Amino acid sequence: MAEATDEGAALERFEAGLADVEARLADAFEGATTEQALREANAKILGPSGELTGLLKLMPRLPKDRRRELGQRANATKARVQEALDARLEALARAAREAELTGPALDVSLPGRGVTRGRLHPLSRTIRELTDVFLALGFDVEDAPEIDLTQNCFDRLGFPPDHPATDMQDSFYLRAPDGTVDPEVVLRTHTTTIQIHQMLKRPPPLAVICPGAVYRRDDDATHSPMFAQIDGFAVDEGLTFAHLKGVLTAFVRRLFGDEVPVRFRPSYFPFVEPGGELDMGCVFCRPWEGDAERTRACRVCKGTGWMEILGCGMIHPVVFEAVGLDPSRYSGFAFGMGIDRIAMLRHGISNIRLLYENDVRFLSQL
Ligand code: DAH
Repeated sequence: MAEATDEGAALERFEAGLADVEARLADAFEGATTEQALREANAKILGPSGELTGLLKLMPRLPKDRRRELGQRANATKARVQEALDARLEALARAAREAELTGPALDVSLPGRGVTRGRLHPLSRTIRELTDVFLALGFDVEDAPEIDLTQNCFDRLGFPPDHPATDMQDSFYLRAPDGTVDPEVVLRTHTTTIQIHQMLKRPPPLAVICPGAVYRRDDDATHSPMFAQIDGFAVDEGLTFAHLKGVLTAFVRRLFGDEVPVRFRPSYFPFVEPGGELDMGCVFCRPWEGDAERTRACRVCKGTGWMEILGCGMIHPVVFEAVGLDPSRYSGFAFGMGIDRIAMLRHGISNIRLLYENDVRFLSQL
């Protein structure tokens, strides 16, 4: 009897439950406007603790003779729930597509996000420009060590032992393994050492340039402890000052323009005789164009109309002797300049440190 009552109660719950699900079927999914909401609504019916799932768990307690029929009804309801869900899912997808097609068009003219590309540092660019000009004039590009013997940096280039450049206050000496300063090893103070390295390595004729970093104990607005130079030299039988003038005039004109005047002034460097400095017409106030007022006001050349750009001269016989070449047979010319200075002139930069601080805000303006 208790069994029959229990069956009766289960049957009642089952049938009421099923009717309830059926009744709400039509609008069970109506309120759901997103797929997420739909799936949640579905879980309330068919999920592990959903309404219909709960009803199916009553099955063993239903009267045996009705189970088959009731089971079929429950399955039919389950199928209708699934159908309603699918229909609603499809409707949502259609509405989304519709909105996409009728909504505001995708603005394909909107500029994309730019990709910031890297580029060469202004010093590297200047090195390449200078190198290109000398390559076209027939020079080779070679390298020499940044850490060198004082012998190559000073002695073989004719520096007297007490020359200020050899001073500890002026140049960077390296320490020996025992920690003491080694007076024989120095960070090269100029790229002029290329002459020694090349002349010891191969016989004339030679025409070589060497761009690279050099080091001095200087640090102010126009001097940095590390800076860049380019040195060049040529050695052969019969080279004269006319060759030097020809090559350097061609160099300046290729770099700055054919109209730029040049002048040579005597100057002293231990490794050349005669030695000189090359000035070129100021490329900022361009005095050859005849505007004297502009030149008078020019800050770059300080009103002189000239800019000093390099040191040069005929290679001193002591240099040839130091590398075992016969100075009565060979002659040659040499020149050297600060690459930083050329870059600063070309870009109107007033502080050399800007070239070495690598502040992208500055570099991207050049
Ligand atoms: N080495 C010199 C300096 O650092 C520049 C220089 C002058 C280089 C005359 C040369 C030269 O080759 O002939 O100031």
